[in-house]
Amino acid sequence: MSTEREQDTAGKQRRSKVCIVGASGKLGRYMVQHCLDRGYEVVGVCREQSVGKLADFGDRITVVPGRTDDRAAIGRAVAGCDAVLTVLVPHGVHGYSTGTAQAVLDLAPTGARLVFSCGWHVARDGEDAYSRRFLATVRIVTVLARLMRFVDVDDQVRACRRVFDSGTRWTVVRGSDLEEGESEGLPVWSRHVGAPILASNKTRRTDFALFMVEAITDDALIREAPAIVGCRTPSARAHARPAEPR
Ligand SMILES: NC(=O)c1ccc[n+]([C@@H]2O[C@H](COP(=O)([O-])OP(=O)(O)OC[C@H]3O[C@@H](n4cnc5c(N)ncnc54)[C@H](OP(=O)(O)O)[C@@H]3O)[C@@H](O)[C@H]2O)c1
Repeated sequence: MSTEREQDTAGKQRRSKVCIVGASGKLGRYMVQHCLDRGYEVVGVCREQSVGKLADFGDRITVVPGRTDDRAAIGRAVAGCDAVLTVLVPHGVHGYSTGTAQAVLDLAPTGARLVFSCGWHVARDGEDAYSRRFLATVRIVTVLARLMRFVDVDDQVRACRRVFDSGTRWTVVRGSDLEEGESEGLPVWSRHVGAPILASNKTRRTDFALFMVEAITDDALIREAPAIVGCRTPSARAHARPAEPR
């Protein structure tokens, strides 16, 4: 049996290998399915107690048990990967998101496509425009969740800053409010929150995952932080670009 590298040299096509960090959550499992649908080899990282949530995928994926900020687990999981899709979640108050992002930034192979998830509340630059209501809601949630030592929203913001400042081939996908349901297709996006096309503020979770996976092969998204919204929402339809004349 020849090794993967030998097959490469022989000119045979090697399957792209994608690591999904946070594979057992809702977004993570959708991403696993989309990657398998594309024929990618998939490695998933999830907490030990959540490994069972990936049982449906059987031996079609490799699972590395571990917290997503566990550098040893991340190092093993990302080895040889062409892309790493990371679900950034700011659980607890001990820098879970920043630890996760830093591990991926430090340990992913040079040149790998790195795609991270977060919410609209992460500002890319001074051009994002937020309503007062949105800012007030984020502040209240941030303070209350931190007081309860449950979630540290600002940790996800700090994690994304590290990604923005890295020299890697990153994309940070900023999700709107999410809902479950059948796929409607690839979400539309804007470089800045506040754009009229985003006004509906709703995306199917499966389509958020689709956007993350599509970003792997979309070089136009490198070093972009697209804010996304469902392609069939009223705001997306109202502001859709007319098709180019043939
Ligand atoms: N929910 C929304 O409306 C919304 C809106 C915009 C953007 N987003 C973004 O979408 C992404 C996915 O979020 P989601 O809300 O849809 O949730 P999700 O996909 O279900 O993911 C939740 C993640 O948190 C992990 N987790 C749960 N409890 C934990 C704990 N105590 N310690 C460490 N990790 C823990 C889960 O891992 P286990 O499987 O191990 O429990 C899972 O990987 C995030 O990046 C989020 O910022 C969400």
